[in-house]
Amino acid sequence: LIAEVQDAAKLLASSQRICVLTGAGISAESGIPTFRDKQTGLWENYHAEDLATPTAFARDPKLVWSWYQWRRELVADKTPNPAHVALAQWQQHIKANHQQLTLITQNVDDLHEQAGSTVSHLHGNLWRNRCSQCKAPYQSNPEGSSNSENDTDFTDTLITCQHCGGYIRPDIVWFGEALPVQAWQTAEDAAASCEVFISIGTSSLVYPAAGLAQLAKHNGAKIIEINPNPTPNTVVDTTLAEKAGVIMPALIQAINKL
Ligand code: NAD
Ligand code: APR
Repeated sequence: LIAEVQDAAKLLASSQRICVLTGAGISAESGIPTFRDKQTGLWENYHAEDLATPTAFARDPKLVWSWYQWRRELVADKTPNPAHVALAQWQQHIKANHQQLTLITQNVDDLHEQAGSTVSHLHGNLWRNRCSQCKAPYQSNPEGSSNSENDTDFTDTLITCQHCGGYIRPDIVWFGEALPVQAWQTAEDAAASCEVFISIGTSSLVYPAAGLAQLAKHNGAKIIEINPNPTPNTVVDTTLAEKAGVIMPALIQAINKL
């Protein structure tokens, strides 16, 4: 693996534009369970697909809020792990070399931001709320980060929007919903113009995020995948089959040594 990390470091050090896509796996070592690894904890008899959908919310908004309240409590005390930190440090260095690193995440936690990264969220932000009808933001923390004092517990009393009366919901992209236009545009542009595309901690099962690697490949980019388990991503050139918390610090160290 050392040789592959060295080779990847050489490739990255000589690339002008780099695109990084992260999934739940990059937060696994911070203690946040992923979606499709063996689930533990209170809700393992539910699936994200049964709760994270507009239909589920329309049918039983309190149940959906309970799940998000549980996820907020689960995430609130979690901190960035070495993978988030290495990525944020790399993002700082890379500016000095006039290289461009675009970080895109499918995650709804704010660990990339906590580590100091600039990141685009394809699936929303666990700490933001909005109206389910008119989409007006509701009592969102401006920076979208987890500060519990103004984090209302919506489970007991459903809050309605003061503009249109719709129920307030988490500002998360649910199954079947369109992605935020700006974030998706940023992701498409970066994947279509990068020289190297790195996929970290995603099962590459859910579209359109899973299609970004193919878009990058189509544009001639080299594809690197960091994931201890195999994925259906067919365009990968280099697989670093190890945890992100191990690979990312080693990769950044190797780049800095070049
Ligand atoms: P999907 O197959 O329904 O497609 C998602 C949406 O992406 C589509 O409705 C479409 O609007 C858009 N889309 C698809 N291909 C596109 C393309 N090429 N260009 C632009 N937009 C495109 O996806 P899904 O599996 O039903 O999930 C919808 C989204 O919600 C996914 O991105 C999923 O990861 C996300 N999600 C988030 C959570 C969470 O808790 N964070 C849970 C479930 C789903
Ligand atoms: N380092 C790197 N990868 C890891 C680690 C780790 N320490 N631990 C687990 N993984 C990998 C797993 O092997 C798996 O391939 O992370 C991946 C997690 O996959 P999922 O649980 O499917 O999470 P993700 O790919 O982010 O899901 C995509 O689906 O439910 C929706 O919107 C939700 O954003 C989510 C999307």
